[in-house]
Amino acid sequence: MSEIDLTSFASQNVIVTGAASGIGKAAAELIAARGAQVICLDLNLAGAQATVKAITSAGGRAIAKGLDISNQDAVNACVAEILNEFGQVHALANSAGIAGPTSTNTEDINWEDFAKTLQINLFGSIWITQALLPSMRQNKYGRIVHLASIAGKEGNPGMSPYNTSKSGLIGYVKGVAKEVATQGITINAVAPAVIRTPINETVTPEIQKYMVSRIPIGRLGEPSEVAEIIAFAASKACSFTTGFTFDVSGGRATY
Ligand SMILES: NC(=O)c1ccc[n+]([C@@H]2O[C@H](COP(=O)([O-])OP(=O)(O)OC[C@H]3O[C@@H](n4cnc5c(N)ncnc54)[C@H](O)[C@@H]3O)[C@@H](O)[C@H]2O)c1
Repeated sequence: MSEIDLTSFASQNVIVTGAASGIGKAAAELIAARGAQVICLDLNLAGAQATVKAITSAGGRAIAKGLDISNQDAVNACVAEILNEFGQVHALANSAGIAGPTSTNTEDINWEDFAKTLQINLFGSIWITQALLPSMRQNKYGRIVHLASIAGKEGNPGMSPYNTSKSGLIGYVKGVAKEVATQGITINAVAPAVIRTPINETVTPEIQKYMVSRIPIGRLGEPSEVAEIIAFAASKACSFTTGFTFDVSGGRATY
């Protein structure tokens, strides 16, 4: 790749969470194909190892580590271990997440299920950002990309924990972006509409039909289509866009 190709990840170390499946897997594979050493993190270690195998078989570089992003101590220990091993993390693509309760009115959701969704999708995202920012500040370089959702902008009925976690993330990147704006660090979110991945297995066909009906392009998105936006936002090329939420919504997003 030429030196002026700012989408290249040559000589970069990139963490991808949720790398065992769906969007995270597609992002890990694309970012590795563009030259990064990818650190694949997931609760599902065997799945992350399978992603590593796919990357290395294609000639790329990747390693896998197990991580429960909803455990703050585990997040801190994992990031410290990675920084110790690789010296620098240039970018984070944070795709770990769950759908949480679906087809349930908010008053019928028990708090344990509500809190679990927030703890994984929102708190986990905050904790891994907090763990990485000090070294990114030291290096005066960093790219952070969090997977939010169109649900965080518009709200899907029956999914109040998920909607809350994703709109929280959109607000989080807006403010943090301003804290690090002069430090060579950008932090953005990506808001997909419904994408063809296993996360939607828990969503009823009725809700899926509702979600697709709101998409002007009229179909599910593919993980590879989201991975392209993640790879851009995680690259050097994304140097003047921060605090932003990129839509990958087939035209659904109206703001
Ligand atoms: N697929 C969609 O329609 C869609 C739409 C909008 C946003 N998103 C978001 O994109 C991200 C990726 O979703 P996906 O569709 O690829 O889902 P997926 O279920 O295919 O992948 C999610 C991955 O996150 C991992 N994970 C779950 N809990 C974890 C934890 N506690 N610690 C570490 N890893 C954990 C899972 O093991 C899995 O590998 C999620 O944040 C999701 O909310 C997805």
